[in-house]
Amino acid sequence: MLETVRGPRQLMVGEGVAENVPRVVAECGSRVLIVTDRVLLAQPRVAELIAAVQARVATVAVFADATPDVPLTDVDLAVAAAAQVDADVLLAIGGGTVIDLAKIVGVIHRYGGAPRDYYGESRVPGPTMPLVAVPTTSGTGSELTPVSVLTDPERELKVGVSSVHIVPDFAVVDPELTYSCPATATAYSGIDAFCHAVESYIAAPRAHEPRDLVEQVFLGRNPITDHYALQGAERIARSLRRAVRDGNDVVARADMSYGSVLAGLAFSHAGNGAPHALQYPIGAATHTPHGLGVGLLLPYALVAAREVIGDRLATLSRVCGLEVDGSSESEAADAFVPWLVQLLADIGIPASLADIGVERADLPRFADMASGVTRLIQNHPGPTDTASLTALLEAAWLGDPTAATR
Ligand SMILES: NC(=O)c1ccc[n+]([C@@H]2O[C@H](COP(=O)([O-])OP(=O)(O)OC[C@H]3O[C@@H](n4cnc5c(N)ncnc54)[C@H](O)[C@@H]3O)[C@@H](O)[C@H]2O)c1
Ligand SMILES: [Fe+2]
Repeated sequence: MLETVRGPRQLMVGEGVAENVPRVVAECGSRVLIVTDRVLLAQPRVAELIAAVQARVATVAVFADATPDVPLTDVDLAVAAAAQVDADVLLAIGGGTVIDLAKIVGVIHRYGGAPRDYYGESRVPGPTMPLVAVPTTSGTGSELTPVSVLTDPERELKVGVSSVHIVPDFAVVDPELTYSCPATATAYSGIDAFCHAVESYIAAPRAHEPRDLVEQVFLGRNPITDHYALQGAERIARSLRRAVRDGNDVVARADMSYGSVLAGLAFSHAGNGAPHALQYPIGAATHTPHGLGVGLLLPYALVAAREVIGDRLATLSRVCGLEVDGSSESEAADAFVPWLVQLLADIGIPASLADIGVERADLPRFADMASGVTRLIQNHPGPTDTASLTALLEAAWLGDPTAATR
């Protein structure tokens, strides 16, 4: 048995925990760069939080120009902002975009160079500057994951920097900060979190050598990731619709915050699978949000792997509250994908790749590109050759999950 657990020094979840942010930041340093975006800066709760930090920390600079999906130009600007105040601590207040930006700023502020020097797994040389991460979506889990996802104009696919050294030092997850999140961002970030839980739960288990625990970031599923994944899936399944329908449903918001944390803990170790790998080229080609793409693709990945994950699908059906008492194991398994397809429709995820403007002729090329994203695609429990992934995408293009088995 080989096992590892990584995470922030402290993870706090619950209403009101954001009040701890000024103290935690002040304990980490005296010159803070706050990373956020313009939309969030205009939110009263965020403005109050920043004012409270200003009252406690000697030097406070704010970089509020983060734009979606972390283009490299934003990294340059934010690194310059950190240098200008010689920052010794970073505070990220925002969604996955803002937190991922702060992570790479911490690396470059400490070690210099350019983002591409750190692309891939375990290439960050050591600890970076302290980072306090405060998510405003539920969510990518970036506040506790070892990953930063960037958009490099010279690469057709998004790129990832993965290292234990970029796990934020403090993750402060306060559902109250998500109340202002609009329905679309709630749906996309919420289904992203659900994908993290499900993709981790079905991730192919792998044999490991002791050194893999520091050389590799994503290791496949194990009993600990299963636990996090199921706990996360349960909460998200019962509350995502409600959070999308009514952003002030505080019970649903709390469930989503906690659920996305648990899902993040699962994929931080297990890793994600085919929907995430396939979303890379599709997101780049269509400029559609990450969560929309992975959510759309999830049913097809499940059907494509149905033969080897029947028991897992049956467990997911039970955990997600489907009425499968008295059903056989096989019936319980088969109930999951139709339930998921309905959930996706209810929260406004498009039904097919054709609907989001993907050209059918591009599917084999996208499959080929995704098959090269080894750290993700190796987790897919179904076949991962280009022809099989193309068939999966064909089914998603048609909007017909049953076609993924052909
Ligand atoms: N690092 C990781 O582990 C990880 C995991 C999954 C995805 N990602 C990445 O995260 C990014 C997506 O992050 P996201 O889904 O959180 O979206 P996001 O951070 O891109 O935010 C989406 C939009 O919602 C707005 N917003 C966020 N919170 C709000 C709030 N409380 N009130 C009002 N508006 C709010 C933002 O201003 C933005 O316009 C992608 O780049 C994706 O690749 C990273
Ligand atoms: Fe994701």
